[in-house]
Order: sequence, then structure tokens, then C-alpha cells
Amino acid sequence: MTGFTVAIDGPAAAGKGTLSKAVAAHFGFAHLDTGLLYRAVAAKTLLGVEPIEAAQRLTAQDLDDTDLRTPEVAQAASKVAVIPEVRAALVDFQRAFAARAGGAVLDGRDIGTVICPDAAVKLFVTASAEVRAERRYLELSAKGDPSTRGQVLADVQARDERDMNRAEAPLKPASDAVLIDTSELSIEAAVASAIAAIEARRA
Ligand code: DC
Repeated sequence: MTGFTVAIDGPAAAGKGTLSKAVAAHFGFAHLDTGLLYRAVAAKTLLGVEPIEAAQRLTAQDLDDTDLRTPEVAQAASKVAVIPEVRAALVDFQRAFAARAGGAVLDGRDIGTVICPDAAVKLFVTASAEVRAERRYLELSAKGDPSTRGQVLADVQARDERDMNRAEAPLKPASDAVLIDTSELSIEAAVASAIAAIEARRA
């Protein structure tokens, strides 16, 4: 089954990561969290590297950095993601991953629209900003991060604004994407609806 690609897009903290991992495990597909690419570039810029150069020199090892999940890196990732040359430098890696034999799940912002417009299945996972912020707040506070609820909501809204309104590859559902609103869905229910959408395309 060469090149069976599942594209999962959506805003920050909508549950894409959890859903993508569950779907990949269910079907035995490989999974790439493309946000990590932008986070890894951002982490380098916070150390003083120029963003385009950081993107062009990115290696797979850079994705293993355990400090990529901080709010500071997330905001910086959303900022470097606006730069067309940064996005361009990351395209080939993502497309090669998508084409791997055995199937692949890629999650991000522009997978169904730009990176893999021919993906077999496209899902757009969303939830209200308040629900997403609350989930992210609980996740961060469990890790000991001191951010307040208000700060986390403001961060989510700032990233939404930037990710949806940039000129290059803005966050939006592909015209043929299946929408999954997780605001009032349990993880199990969201995973079940994603699996059903994929099964329908595989049939
Ligand atoms: O999914 P994430 O929260 O790890 O993504 C971090 C930032 O990276 C996000 O705010 C915008 C950017 N991004 C992007 O522009 N395109 C992608 N495919 C994935 C992430």
C-alpha cells in the first residue's frame, strides 16, 4: 500500500497529536508531527541562528530535542512558519515521509492543502479556542509550567490568528476534508470517527 497518506490539520491544541498517534497505531502507519519541524527551526532561532538557514540545515536529530514543547518555542514556531523560504525548505522531507510504503499520517496546518493535496484521507480537527486553551493549560500545569489559564488562552488565540492569516499556506480545511470538532467529543469518540473516515476511503 505505497503512499497511502492521511493528512490531519487543525489549530493548536485541537487534539491532532493524540488523534494522529492513535490512528497511526491502529492502521500500523508511520506518523510525522510536522509542527516539530517548525518548533525545531524556532528553537535554533532562539539560539541566534537565522531562520532560513536553520530550516535548510535541519536534521532528523534536531526533532529529538526534548525542549521543543514549551510555550515560548510554540510562539516562535508560529512566527518562523510565516516565512515562505522556511516552509519551502521543509517540503521535500514531508512529502518523502508521506510517500513511504506502508502508509503515513502527517499532522500539521497545511498537509491537506499544500504538502499532500492528493492525500487519500484529509481530516480537519478543531475545537473552540476556550476548550483548546483549557486542555493545553492542564497539560502545561501537569508539567510544572507556571503559565496561567489567561496566558494560555491568549497564546492559543495569537497562534490561531497568525497561522490562519499568513499569506503562505494558511491554516484552513481542504475543500475535501472531513471535519472533526472535538469540543464535546471524548478522545475515544474522536479516534473512532477518524478511523471510520479512513476505513471509508480504504474500502
Ligand atoms: O502543531 P504545533 O503546535 O506543534 O505547531 C507549531 C507551529 O508551527 C504552529 O503554530 C504553526 C507552525 N506549523 C505550520 O505552520 N505548519 C505545519 N504543518 C505545522 C506547524
